[in-house]
Amino acid sequence: MQPLRQQPVPSIGSVYFNLQPYYLTISENLQHHYSFDPVGRFLSGFLDGINYRRGLDGSILAKHRTTHSGKSRRRLSEPETQTLIDDVHGRVANIAPYLTAPEQADLLPYVQAILAWDYARLHAERSTFHAIYKPISILPPDQYRAVVLQAAEGCSWNKCTFCSLYRDRRFRIKSATSFRQHIQHIKQLLGPSIGLRQSLFLGDANALVIPQPRLLELLQVVHEEFALGPAQPNDAPCMKGVYSFLDIFGAERKTLSDYRELAAYGLKRIYIGLESGDDDLFALLNKPGSPQECVQAVQTIKQAGIAVGIILLAGAGGDRYAEQHVANSVAHIHTMGLDANDIIYISALVVSGSDEYSQLLHAQGGHALADAQVQQQLATFKTLLRAPAGPRPKVSLYHIEEFIY
Ligand SMILES: C[S@@+](CC[C@H](N)C(=O)[O-])C[C@H]1O[C@@H](n2cnc3c(N)ncnc32)[C@H](O)[C@@H]1O
Ligand code: SF4
Repeated sequence: MQPLRQQPVPSIGSVYFNLQPYYLTISENLQHHYSFDPVGRFLSGFLDGINYRRGLDGSILAKHRTTHSGKSRRRLSEPETQTLIDDVHGRVANIAPYLTAPEQADLLPYVQAILAWDYARLHAERSTFHAIYKPISILPPDQYRAVVLQAAEGCSWNKCTFCSLYRDRRFRIKSATSFRQHIQHIKQLLGPSIGLRQSLFLGDANALVIPQPRLLELLQVVHEEFALGPAQPNDAPCMKGVYSFLDIFGAERKTLSDYRELAAYGLKRIYIGLESGDDDLFALLNKPGSPQECVQAVQTIKQAGIAVGIILLAGAGGDRYAEQHVANSVAHIHTMGLDANDIIYISALVVSGSDEYSQLLHAQGGHALADAQVQQQLATFKTLLRAPAGPRPKVSLYHIEEFIY
């Protein structure tokens, strides 16, 4: 870890440089910050009270506080993206001429690399991303910094009434050959910035439905392409494990010995959208399987030594289901035998009102909860899920509008 360095710049004041193995952060008077990956691509910034995060897909998420508890999150339009990148580059160009002291010599090439990644070049790289990846629709929050490997594309079910994340593509499993090519292209795209990422996420929506022999073949490719295991003493990039989504229907298809094989291949945690433990609401959501089957699948997965991430949908079922949604979801989760390795995510439902789910709810006489009621339900879930004594899973929020890859 290198110490923070300071450089006076007349038009600014003090400029600080935090140079780390896989990023550089520049800070103006410790008020405005902007960070870049090791090849010089803009990563993130905090400017005029707004947080910006740039995804590998080139889009930029802007986030800021609106009230003491509210947050605004949105993707920048293309003209806004250009304005932001031009602004950041103008700031770096203003600082560059002052990096003349010998002790700043290592910063100059970094800064020159940053200036070479202007808006036009960053924009052009988006087509490379889209040639390699289908859109990365969502990841669990603890995996936002994973390297996504699309072993499969899309969702094998794709019929949940509230979920439109994968409606733009057909489900497809890659062959070992095309998966290896996909991985090699990803490595080229990431370059040395792969060191910012510490895990591998098998995409897309439910890669673990891939039949076991094919899945093992694909995992073998992963092991041939990446070093997996604990961090290396020389800081060489090393992935701490493999992670993936699974829907409940798919979970039913694998046995304890299948999961043990997957654990031996480095599968560390499986994320499952239970959404609700209430049978009636579960049917309205048209999730595959049932809450009871989810409990059984989780118990099997945990027995194999793999952790789980269970996702619940706050606000699902509106006023009509609110009470039974909370009570039955908490009851099912309490029978899963979760421990401190597991995570429960609560995702606030985001729907347009004209989607299939909203229409079905409306036809049953239900109404969407107001934002304040959803927040109340989130708080109730948190309290009840943290209740039992003993090794408890982490309970955390999941906001699909906050995701960027
Ligand atoms: C890829 S899916 C989950 C994994 C797996 N396909 C399954 O269904 O169990 C990711 C999660 O995104 C969340 N999600 C999907 N659509 C959503 C929506 N409209 N509003 C809020 N969360 C949503 C759900 O909680 C879902 O479990
Ligand atoms: S919630 Fe999961 S299973 Fe349902 S459509 Fe979305 S990705 Fe597929």
